[in-house]
Amino acid sequence: MTGPGGPPGRVDGPAKAAGTAPYPSDFRYPDLAHAVLVRATVAAGRIRRIRTGEAARAPGVLAVVTHTTMPDLRTPPRLLGILPHPPANLGSGEIRHHGQYVAMVVADTLHQAVAAAEAIDVEYAAERPVLDRADPRARTRETLATVRRGHLGTGFTSADVTVGGTYTTAANTHAPIGPFTTTAVWDGDRVTVHDSTQNPAEVRRAVAAMFGIPRENVRVVAPFVGGSFGAGSRVWPHVALAVHAARLVGRPVRLALTRPQMFTGVGHRAATEQRVRLGATLDGRLTAIEHRTHRYGAVGDAEIEPVALVSATSYACPNVDARDERTRVHLPPSCAMRAPGDAQGNFALESAMDELAATLGMDPVELRLRNHADVHPNTGMPWTSRALAECYRVGAERFGWSARDPEPRSARDGHDLVGWGMAGAAFPDSRFACAMSVTLYADGTARAATSTTEIGTGTATVMTRVVARLLGLPVERVTFGFGDTGMPAAPGVGASATTASLCAAAEEACGRLVRELLALAATDPESPLRGARPGDVATSGGRIHLRGDPSAGETYTAILRRHHREHHTVEASSRTPWNVLAHHGGNLVAGRLGAPARAAFRAGRARMPSGACGAHFVEVRVDADLGVVRVCRVVTAVDGGRILDAAGARSQITGAVVGGVGMALMEETRFEPGDGRIANATLTDYLVPVHADVPDIDVAFVGGPDPAHPLGVKGVGEVGLVGVAAAVANAVHHATGIRVRRLPITPERLLGTPRRTNARAAVP
Ligand code: MOS
Repeated sequence: MTGPGGPPGRVDGPAKAAGTAPYPSDFRYPDLAHAVLVRATVAAGRIRRIRTGEAARAPGVLAVVTHTTMPDLRTPPRLLGILPHPPANLGSGEIRHHGQYVAMVVADTLHQAVAAAEAIDVEYAAERPVLDRADPRARTRETLATVRRGHLGTGFTSADVTVGGTYTTAANTHAPIGPFTTTAVWDGDRVTVHDSTQNPAEVRRAVAAMFGIPRENVRVVAPFVGGSFGAGSRVWPHVALAVHAARLVGRPVRLALTRPQMFTGVGHRAATEQRVRLGATLDGRLTAIEHRTHRYGAVGDAEIEPVALVSATSYACPNVDARDERTRVHLPPSCAMRAPGDAQGNFALESAMDELAATLGMDPVELRLRNHADVHPNTGMPWTSRALAECYRVGAERFGWSARDPEPRSARDGHDLVGWGMAGAAFPDSRFACAMSVTLYADGTARAATSTTEIGTGTATVMTRVVARLLGLPVERVTFGFGDTGMPAAPGVGASATTASLCAAAEEACGRLVRELLALAATDPESPLRGARPGDVATSGGRIHLRGDPSAGETYTAILRRHHREHHTVEASSRTPWNVLAHHGGNLVAGRLGAPARAAFRAGRARMPSGACGAHFVEVRVDADLGVVRVCRVVTAVDGGRILDAAGARSQITGAVVGGVGMALMEETRFEPGDGRIANATLTDYLVPVHADVPDIDVAFVGGPDPAHPLGVKGVGEVGLVGVAAAVANAVHHATGIRVRRLPITPERLLGTPRRTNARAAVP
């Protein structure tokens, strides 16, 4: 396998451009009925009475379902044994958040269902919701994730300087363009589900568990999803409702969420409040990091998303105390979104690092180099690979960082204040067990398949290329099948782990395929490969040949034909490595994953996979009077291990940077203080970057293959978002002298924040 190369286009591009790539709402069935959901208009309490008579009698209505008629579904098992699915709706009359589903109407047409749903009248025994941790009724404060290293007190005592403060990140909503849709079709006791999911295998497992049917009776077919950003990583209540509706009316049923329902029904990134304090010596060495995060969770939900733990793994600091706390409130369940945890935690840590650099009068890059984690800080284990210092160097050079005058407000361009800021980034290494089948046909083509979905990340393209290279076939002769649980099981798409997981499976499966075909040839007296062993051969040009003598070999076609076979299929699986989640999530819940991970480290088994890391350099222009911030230039350098598809990887990082700009400047899900209703649940009101907001983004890949992975890859997705918000905030400080510790950085927040040198700085 070599580096980047091959045709640039996406294999699914033509189908998407032609409109033939099937999204969950594109599957057609005769007799399709439509389900529509009614949502609670209060945030807490109970349903006192619900009048459905008029709706039930409305034209075309097939069924009306409420908490009194909805059967109890079983609770599905946790994803990976850790992550619960969100609580079911409609099962009881209890209301836990504004927008919770309280009724469902199924009708012949969508318009009939909508009209009938409007006729449903719900009377609530409303209670005053708990929406704030300051509320004395908010008692369920839980400590989620904790890492303690060294002794914080000692660390601060030996510090010459301390900086820090409270950093807040807003609630954000995933807002994929494609509204989530579930289409369910029963045939006897078997059901087919088309769902906007990142994890078809998990939908299958959850539906089987909830409805008490064997897993084999559930087929999930979901090849394309119109964006997701994490929202499709849980199995949401509407999925079960659609499946129930289809069984109830005995017809295929489609349930498409509306845009407002996309805000309450498929998660959001919970707001955080983070207290960060750094201690350092005058020469810029960190002596202490304290990082305390508070976030909200939903009543009845136990979603996990470690935020403060970035402070445990980012720098070589001997004394660290990082912990997360959560208070359950009457808000909708949250869900992993675009670099979950790291995105928020990094903003606080990397902002504080910038404040430290300013306090010490040290260049921000130099400060980070002085605290570079040469080994994994929690375990002392060496990294498998980590080109972070190279990312700083390459990024700074491409940006022209050395020309920066460190003085805030030192650069002006007409009416604009110009600022340059930077931040480091990392995203933990993950890889999950994956099964894959590979078939070689006698006509010299091949097809690989696994049940993953394509949420827009380019998986189909990179996997087609990887399989082609592993088999030594031209890309045009390889197809990649995905999005159907009839295929070997893939892990969920997410955690920037998909390419690594699928490539490990491809390597297993293709390796086995070549070995099995070689075994056929090697015992064949006519074959130039007779007697050859797996280690003796390589593949290229549609042939298996001797490594030392490429002319000695034969085509797959010749081998298969001679043995009268139309095709040969293998299925193989990669495993979840022992150290998955170890770098970061190994500390996920100290008593849970932490102990086994630590035991494995003590056994001295391996080096620590660093995951992807990188650095962002950002130029902003701030309107001096209006406080409007524009990001006008970004240079991002990423160590993503071996880059298999340069265009696809660059596109991933570019998209992630855009997501980071949204988080930095625009995105904020606003919950009304009184009842938790989302005030801006439309794409008009919930701002995301549009084309005109997207700057010139220069992406550079540095580093090389990571030996922890059979093909050397790391995930290149979310790492591109981590750090953008801090780099923007740091650039805003450089431009204006104003340190905004609250995201998003809106004009009113910028103008409303007093200019001060560096708060809480104490230089003796
Ligand atoms: Mo994700 S937030 O789907 O890795």
